[in-house]
Amino acid sequence: MADNKPKKPHAIVIPYPLQGHVIPTVNLALKLASQGFTITFINSESIHHQTSKAQAKTGVELFAKVRESGLDIRYTTVSDGLPVGFDRSLNHDQFMASLLHVFSAHIEEVVAQIVASGEDVHCLIADTFFVWPSKIAKKFGLVYVSFWTEPALVFTLYYHLDLLRLNGHFAREDCRKDTIDYIPGVKGIEQKDTTSYIQETDTTSICHQIIFSCFNDAKNADFVLCNTVQELEPETISALQAKIPYYAIGPIFPNDFSKTVVATSLWSESQCTQWLDKKPHGSVLYVSFGSYAHVTKTDLAQIANGLSLSKVSFVMVLRPDVVSSDDTEPLPVGFQEEVADRAIIVPWCRQKEVLAHPAIGGFLTHCGWNSILESIWCQVPFLCFPLYTDQFTNRKLVVDDWKIGINLTNRKVITKEEVSDNINRLMCGESRDEFRNRIKEVKKILENAVSPTGSSEKNKVQFIKDLKAKIEKIAQAKCSKCNGHA
Ligand code: UDX
Repeated sequence: MADNKPKKPHAIVIPYPLQGHVIPTVNLALKLASQGFTITFINSESIHHQTSKAQAKTGVELFAKVRESGLDIRYTTVSDGLPVGFDRSLNHDQFMASLLHVFSAHIEEVVAQIVASGEDVHCLIADTFFVWPSKIAKKFGLVYVSFWTEPALVFTLYYHLDLLRLNGHFAREDCRKDTIDYIPGVKGIEQKDTTSYIQETDTTSICHQIIFSCFNDAKNADFVLCNTVQELEPETISALQAKIPYYAIGPIFPNDFSKTVVATSLWSESQCTQWLDKKPHGSVLYVSFGSYAHVTKTDLAQIANGLSLSKVSFVMVLRPDVVSSDDTEPLPVGFQEEVADRAIIVPWCRQKEVLAHPAIGGFLTHCGWNSILESIWCQVPFLCFPLYTDQFTNRKLVVDDWKIGINLTNRKVITKEEVSDNINRLMCGESRDEFRNRIKEVKKILENAVSPTGSSEKNKVQFIKDLKAKIEKIAQAKCSKCNGHA
């Protein structure tokens, strides 16, 4: 009798082609490969090109080193439909339109080639924001695993967009402003704490089309993996689990937290360690707005002037396109000279290495989910300045629910005085100690979750077991079909 049991599950893994999605997806691929999976990682040509350029090593492939260490990770690239050199940051909507309309055709071609080569492929692990995975998975007889890189709270808001719409909290000019209290597993959330897309009244944008389509598609997923921790969002996750097979397996970090095993940075990383080594313990504020969102020049000026006023030492990451790739010198005139004796400003850094440095005592952040998980891991409390997408909801979790940070501003208009006051609240005195004690407790939750008996580890083991059972079921169904035809 033929042995239809797959010896090794083979997963095609596809990250959303944005920095904050590529990083956790690479880490997930590494985790699964070290559990005995064969992985075929499909990167967009543009991300491949940018990461290679950042390393100043063209032609070197992302996983070459880990493959030498015995992991079975294959790698290929595919066009997202636009030329490699196209400025995706400046032409955001065009980029998103390409991901919505064109990317799937290229992906389908590559998946077809892999399958046609005779490879025994079993599942497709793709970012939830893609609009096509369930269709491609179905076409090629693959199990579809949807990977969500943001908190479960954000997932559930999108998952229940129909409820938000029905209740008048979404997609109308005169949106209700009272508390949203009918989403399963969410006690109550204000409209201002939902994602930027849910708050917008015009819902005809490309990003809205993506969100509508991708959550329709995600409802067909066989499994959903989420980079969060069960104990951080217990009710939300339980409510989701009543509807779909949902596994909280975060935080998904490399085994050695601050070591780079696979180079994923889109910009070349400046060294900050030597400068930090000379600073007292917990005295330096780390400032970064992540990889994607833009800050207005006016807000950036107030933040810069607030930093200047605060007298606190800081490391500031100023991405070349942080305001716009059209404006490469967005800081106020004279600012850099004024703070030169207590600050370094770099275009990009090794964030995990910086956060893990003992000199860092606070993080002025845009509230990207990776940044939040990384900073909790390093026990660095937050000064929150959400800009876009899920960051407003992430802020709520950090400030209102877990109480491990404060808002950069509580007004519509930022002032340098408020920025400076809040920096000092986070970095000095009794309030500083409170945040640091509290974040120690939250770090413990993360640490426990990834320990051998912790929830994320158990959920990962359960997911692998369930996935293998599903793969086997599909193989058996195929086999009996063949026998039936014979
Ligand atoms: C967006 C979303 O807001 C976020 O919630 C989602 O999960 C991904 O996309 P992004 O701007 O990419 O966020 O921020 P974040 O999620 O924090 O990810 C940025 C990543 O880049 C982090 O892993 C961080 O360590 C890394 N980084 C950032 C660097 O390595 N160096 C830097 O200088 C800045």
